[in-house]
Amino acid sequence: MNDYTKEREASIKKLAAEQVLPNVQWFPGHMTKARKIITENLKLVDVVIELLDARIPYSSANPMLQEIIAGKPKLVALNKSDLADPAITKKWVNYFRSQGIKAVAVDATQGKGIKQLVQITEDLAKDKTEKLVSKGAKARAARVMILGIPNVGKSSLINRLAGSNKAKTADKPGVTRAKQWIRLGGNLELLDTPGILWPKFEDMTAGLKLAFTGAINDEAIDRELITEVFLDTMLKLYPARISERYKITDGLPETALELLELIGKKRGCLMKGGVVDTEKAQRIVLTDFRSGKLGTISLDVPPASEETENNLEKD
Ligand code: G4P
Repeated sequence: MNDYTKEREASIKKLAAEQVLPNVQWFPGHMTKARKIITENLKLVDVVIELLDARIPYSSANPMLQEIIAGKPKLVALNKSDLADPAITKKWVNYFRSQGIKAVAVDATQGKGIKQLVQITEDLAKDKTEKLVSKGAKARAARVMILGIPNVGKSSLINRLAGSNKAKTADKPGVTRAKQWIRLGGNLELLDTPGILWPKFEDMTAGLKLAFTGAINDEAIDRELITEVFLDTMLKLYPARISERYKITDGLPETALELLELIGKKRGCLMKGGVVDTEKAQRIVLTDFRSGKLGTISLDVPPASEETENNLEKD
């Protein structure tokens, strides 16, 4: 890649990030409010489930969560694992384990990993619930709440966990007035309202990955620019997926813009005079990625394996 191309890529990335970051940004007032709600609910629960996007566990994490939950037992659930590269998800689970944090891969839409999630949550709560009993209190179910950034799948997970129990939701007078709890089997109670966390917004690369996955409102950003940066990432990490999906047999172009145009041509996104309709082409690419049509893809790798952040297909 020549210097001009490299320079252009860097400037596109910067330009795209400048667009994305203001949209990720939460106003200080919103953050204070979100934090207050979480802190209030935290008092009511024994365990916190932190929901991350399995494709971007680093970028979808809230930078202040550890501080907010202040020592409360936590389980990390890597959701949308159906869309993530299974080998990398496994590395993430091991990475969290190595940090002394329990983690499980889940798919809230299909229900994969849910049994394990319930089991681990019950185990994490045991210390607290058993202590209460040893102090003479009546045995009670473990209480849990789900936290995560917008669009990570909190409602889907609550619905999946609740199943037919959802209808039985009831107020618990005395302890949690106006709080809705869902009883899951005999040993677990789930707070019906998830805690909404704000994403990282000072990290340019994380912001871009949030835009790729659709965690940031598409309407407010230049999607063509975002797609160009996405394709640039794909050329580095998963080139074969691009060749396969778009049937590019005679070598991939060197730059993302050329690639976007080629995809447009292949898909018949042409305007008058044979000019490629890049707006149409970009929609195809982002939709393909978000719906898993480019295969299982992970864009964040755990810290210990950062050296693999080249071609993940070889991994
Ligand atoms: P939130 O409460 O955290 O904001 O997220 P929500 O559950 O609303 O989920 C956001 C989107 O992610 C939804 O798609 C949902 O279907 C999808 N989703 C949640 N969990 C999973 C998962 O494990 N795998 C996959 N593939 N998708 C998941 P949507 O397009 O906004 O809505 P819809 O498709 O449900 O209509």
